[in-house]
Amino acid sequence: MNIDNLFQTLRQQTGQAHRNLEATYPFNQHMRSTSFNAQAYARSLHVLKAFHLAAVQPIALLPAQITKLIDDEHVLSALNTDIAILPSNSDELPVFSIDNKNAPAETAIAFSYVWMGSSMGGSIISKWLQKHHPELPVNYYLSMAGAGSQWEAYKASTLEYARETNVDVAVCAAEAVKVFEGIIQAASCYQADNSPSN
Ligand code: HEM
Repeated sequence: MNIDNLFQTLRQQTGQAHRNLEATYPFNQHMRSTSFNAQAYARSLHVLKAFHLAAVQPIALLPAQITKLIDDEHVLSALNTDIAILPSNSDELPVFSIDNKNAPAETAIAFSYVWMGSSMGGSIISKWLQKHHPELPVNYYLSMAGAGSQWEAYKASTLEYARETNVDVAVCAAEAVKVFEGIIQAASCYQADNSPSN
């Protein structure tokens, strides 16, 4: 597969996994004014925290030209701030784990792609939250909106690194699909229920 098509391939090959994630509770509650509540929101942030924590190590393998664009400390601290404000059940902590192929560069790019790419939907979600649920904290989504401003710079630096290291685009895309599946798996510890919003 052509390295120049890295991001087109990632987008295309993870499309179905992204749709599956959007259809999974608690993410499927977002942008729905009738069923969305603070509990579903808190749960989605717990799942995202599990993902962001798991992404720290693989992303750290990338060169500084990429990692300087990915402020994981700021994003994790924003997540912790929002989680501390929201109601949550400490006995329901999601676990993120995936079985990576032994291809560190491809895995690192896969995690960084899902990390950076999630800012695309993030800015839409933060606008929706601020309009429909102004009572909820949005530090995480605001920090991701900031990260999103680096999307083009991120893609350019990553493409350069992928060319230099002769990255296998197919493996990279397969790893990115696994990252999405890992998030879906982490979310499976939660069940939609009819308990009142709190
Ligand atoms: C509440 C659920 C979500 C919604 C409604 C949503 C929505 C979106 C939207 C509208 C885009 C932009 C598509 C475009 O510009 O063409 C996008 C892109 C993306 N989202 Fe999500 N998203 C959600 C959750 C997530 C999560 C939890 C992650 C991963 C942590 C994620 C990862 C990505 C990635 C990697 C892209 C970039 C695709 C690309 O352009 O290559 N999304 N999302």
